[in-house]
Amino acid sequence: MVNDLKLECSFSSWYPIFKKDSLEARILHIPDEVLKYLEHDTFVLPLEAAKSLPKDSEWADGSPVTCEEEETDYQPTFPEFSQQIQEILDEYDAVFVKTNWSTPADAMWVAPTKTLKCNTLEEIYLLLKSSDRIAKDLNIVKSSKDCEKPLPFCLVLKQWRDINPCTEFRCFVIDNELIAISQRDISQYHSSNESQKYDIQTDIKSLFLERIKGRFPLRNYSFDVIRYKKDKVKIIDFGAMDVASTKETLFTYDELLNHIENTPEFRFIGEEIGIQPKPPMQFCIPQEISEFFQSRDNVTLLDLIQRRKVSNSRPGFDRAKTPASSSHRKPPTTTTTTTC
Ligand SMILES: Nc1ncnc2c1ncn2[C@@H]1O[C@H](COP(=O)(O)OP(=O)(O)OP(=O)(O)O)[C@@H](O)[C@H]1O
Ligand SMILES: [Mg+2]
Repeated sequence: MVNDLKLECSFSSWYPIFKKDSLEARILHIPDEVLKYLEHDTFVLPLEAAKSLPKDSEWADGSPVTCEEEETDYQPTFPEFSQQIQEILDEYDAVFVKTNWSTPADAMWVAPTKTLKCNTLEEIYLLLKSSDRIAKDLNIVKSSKDCEKPLPFCLVLKQWRDINPCTEFRCFVIDNELIAISQRDISQYHSSNESQKYDIQTDIKSLFLERIKGRFPLRNYSFDVIRYKKDKVKIIDFGAMDVASTKETLFTYDELLNHIENTPEFRFIGEEIGIQPKPPMQFCIPQEISEFFQSRDNVTLLDLIQRRKVSNSRPGFDRAKTPASSSHRKPPTTTTTTTC
């Protein structure tokens, strides 16, 4: 399991090496007591993240949402850790949250903004506590405990940036050579890819040759970048070279391993393809919760959780399940360019 995600691709492993070439971030080591809290079945926010709420909430079937605070025998509080998070929030204003490898993208529907943009402690704890992807990272870190160099479980708080999806690319490196670049958001046609294809390749290739090659410890891997201006490319993440990392791109794993001749090959969608599903949208709100909120103006999930202990036995409050990834995507017409 650890090997699937690669220790080298943990944010805590690569960020110190590539800090200058990445978006600004802080890494916090998550203490054991917070790990236990994240693993605990009970869905309750830490004391310092809770605030008072309206008192007339009810479920879709009309039954009242009762306040069970008095019965709660588990009242977590992590003053020091929460203070560290708060200081970063104060500095960055808004943050983007992830852990060693993953973002809590599967839990975005619980967030008031429906994005990974967090302005408060509550939003951060809510996302961490609701996400299966974060739980998976946690399990992997736990299973690395017996490795030679066990990894710390970390919370990554990146300064929030409004990123235009047309500036994002996933790149593949095999045997230490950059062999392929794909537009990252394959739900849309981005005209800039056609008009700037040579500059895009040149800029990414330069970043790879000057800043990544020989500095990243693996020989086979993927890396994600944003090219926010001409000559300005920043690293977003590193990933393992496997089927999972090619899934949401315009290359198949088999193509990368066997069929790329002129490198790096750049693929992008070459024509309008209409409205296509966006990968994070696979994770959606359970029906019961959706109905509840339709009948309640101005009440958010965060309001409810702050007000009461929500046990996992409550239907609809199970962690968002990850449906099988969508296979109904219309195959786009791709354009390939290989000359730089
Ligand atoms: N600092 C930031 N501010 C705002 N949005 C960001 C920031 N960093 C990354 N993002 C957005 O979040 C997306 C996902 O980020 P990231 O690649 O770190 O997640 P991930 O969980 O590793 O994804 P994957 O599973 O596809 O590898 C990026 O494509 C980018 O659009
Ligand atoms: Mg990643």
